[in-house]
Amino acid sequence: MKIAVLGSGFIARFYATALQAQRRKDFIYTVYSRNSENAKRFAEDYQLAHFTDDMEAAISHPQVDVVLISLPNHLHEIAVSACAKHKKHVLCTKPLGRTAAEAKRMLQMVESSGIFGGYLEDLCYTPKFLKSVASIQQGSIGKVLWTKSREAHPGPHSDWFWDKEKSGGGCIIDLACHCVEISRNFIGKEIKPLEVMCWAATQVHPIEAEDHAIGLVKYANGAIGQFEVSWTFRGGMDLRDEVMGTEGTIWINSFLRTGFEMFSTGKAGGYVAEKAEATTGWLFPVGDEAHELGYPNMFTDMFDAIENKRQPLETFYDGYVVNAILDAAFLSAKTKQWEPITIDDWRGGESIIQEGTGLISFDEHFYLIKEEVLPNGDIKLILKNKQTGEVVQQNK
Ligand SMILES: NC(=O)c1ccc[n+]([C@@H]2O[C@H](COP(=O)([O-])OP(=O)(O)OC[C@H]3O[C@@H](n4cnc5c(N)ncnc54)[C@H](O)[C@@H]3O)[C@@H](O)[C@H]2O)c1
Repeated sequence: MKIAVLGSGFIARFYATALQAQRRKDFIYTVYSRNSENAKRFAEDYQLAHFTDDMEAAISHPQVDVVLISLPNHLHEIAVSACAKHKKHVLCTKPLGRTAAEAKRMLQMVESSGIFGGYLEDLCYTPKFLKSVASIQQGSIGKVLWTKSREAHPGPHSDWFWDKEKSGGGCIIDLACHCVEISRNFIGKEIKPLEVMCWAATQVHPIEAEDHAIGLVKYANGAIGQFEVSWTFRGGMDLRDEVMGTEGTIWINSFLRTGFEMFSTGKAGGYVAEKAEATTGWLFPVGDEAHELGYPNMFTDMFDAIENKRQPLETFYDGYVVNAILDAAFLSAKTKQWEPITIDDWRGGESIIQEGTGLISFDEHFYLIKEEVLPNGDIKLILKNKQTGEVVQQNK
């Protein structure tokens, strides 16, 4: 497939690096940038056949099959609309919209025009993440009770991110979109997210939007998805996930500790890793950033899905659900209350909390609360009487 990339900035280059890095059948044909010089430079760097400063010309070009939206958040909708008009498949970076209303319009444009809509949520395609989800789905950690996803760094790299009108918000719209979708995957996308409690503040930067936030998303099966996002974190880019299940635990560190540590006096300077703040002393580079961040797996899924006329793992509908959760988070940060999540056409299940399913029967009289091996080797049992509710302990 031949691709048109819209935008020539930070993420466009990450995408192009991932797409052109390996021998593959899908390649970038053209790039659009509003600045012709930037388009030309990008085309030269990635050896593209074509470049333009006319967005519609890139999308409607007869050679182009798929459009890759790598533009600031306020331009996603206009770009999706042009893709629907010219019937070109579209892959859109995160967040899908600035609000759920905007995301829903984009979802409707894609579905009514019959084009493919892939949501480029790369962090749901990292090698560690895909393996974790597979382990959860095969039951390795039991029922997921709580997930925590953290993305924090010292703040983004372009003016428009810091302008609430263009971006749609601060670190919540920029980073919690990743965290929320990570949690949805761990908990199960068919489980309905119900409500959100969120704290947000502008602690450091002179901006209208929040630069630090923590939120809890409650799901219909009782699970909690926690997000921790910040543009105030110092020390690089902190990307970590945790999952707690009834039968196990998963901890993932995707960036600051990938098993690659390096010391340098810093004489040469240069790039270490995304958002790294130091070039001297002990450093934490990332071997293949594009791969560690999920881009190759993501594009493989997207292009295979288009070719085989199936849904990708991350769709425009997922992007819409994420925006709906973030809308409730913004509201909760203002009202300081749990706020319900409004999803107009929920396509998952309507499961409810099954009270008492966690009770483990010990014998006909007792439930088992806990078994513990003590330092002296004794095994202690803590039990609950099924009739009276009394909690007792005995040695095994
Ligand atoms: N992990 C990820 O998936 C990830 C990471 C970074 C950014 N993003 C997303 O990618 C998108 C772009 O972010 P970025 O980091 O590449 O930003 P950027 O500022 O580095 O690049 C934005 C590009 O859009 C162009 N642009 C800016 N304003 C424009 C306008 N008014 N009209 C036309 N073109 C305009 C810029 O010239 C540049 O080419 C955003 O939606 C962002 O959230 C995703």
